[in-house]
Amino acid sequence: CLVNFAVKPGLSSTILLYEFDPQGRLVHRHSHAVPGFAFLHDFAITPNYCLFFQNPVSFNPVPYAIGLKGAAECISFNPKQPTQAILIPRNGKDPVQFIEAPPSFVFHHANAFEADGKVYLDSICYREFPTLKGGEDYRQVNFDAVPEGQLWRFELDLAQGKATETCLIERCCEFPVLHPDRVGRPYRYLYMGAALRSRGNAPLQALLKRDLETGADQLWTLGARGFMGEPNFVPHPQGQAEDDGWVLMLLYDAAEQRSELAILAAKDITAGPIARLKLKHHVPYGLHGSFTSQYFGPDAKA
Ligand SMILES: [Fe+2]
Repeated sequence: CLVNFAVKPGLSSTILLYEFDPQGRLVHRHSHAVPGFAFLHDFAITPNYCLFFQNPVSFNPVPYAIGLKGAAECISFNPKQPTQAILIPRNGKDPVQFIEAPPSFVFHHANAFEADGKVYLDSICYREFPTLKGGEDYRQVNFDAVPEGQLWRFELDLAQGKATETCLIERCCEFPVLHPDRVGRPYRYLYMGAALRSRGNAPLQALLKRDLETGADQLWTLGARGFMGEPNFVPHPQGQAEDDGWVLMLLYDAAEQRSELAILAAKDITAGPIARLKLKHHVPYGLHGSFTSQYFGPDAKA
């Protein structure tokens, strides 16, 4: 099924949840009011819960309404307030649970799963909201002044109402993806964009695969002038192992001012691409990626 959400932010915010069956029919819809302003970019699911992080941010709409600032510039971070993990039961009936976690900011969650009577949530966390000033030349951004994203695991103990957090990846990283069949379930492999240097904030110029069972990493670097957005994991149709498949990524070669689609065997990221489809032009950044097995090129059947 497909699970999706909408949020109506305000002094109190409303989260709406939708579940669709494989035919695209809406089978479940429920809404929940949560106290305070909620800026929710992403969520995670398990068999029983929808998980959100309500980070300690507030929104002043006035400069945005009168055209002085962009919406993201009107968000301010309050480091004295905790993050609230919000667990909404997917049955729409049981009570919503709130668990406090240390203050941070999250755009993207990697995955969540249930084990040992607890709920685990893996997320790319920033130590505060990564603000960029309007009108600043993007080529002049001081990366060290902006917090980097790092992968953290939150163990949510529902019985105790307690969160325990562990940093899994300190290297600056974003856009985590995994085998689609492992979404919401215990999983082993995570793929993401990462910085070339192992500490501090920097652009995403490497593909990183983390084995969450052993802690081992595989890294393929795009070189000094290569930049990437979100990778995509495409499972092998007859694959057995969780990393049986390919990682597709659109990368930008700044030296050539062209983009290319690189395809890597997910089992061996370090070996680099098994195919590179070089375009004659660049593709503007879209941040996220998606994959379909449907062919849209010349002679495609309608
Ligand atoms: Fe996003």
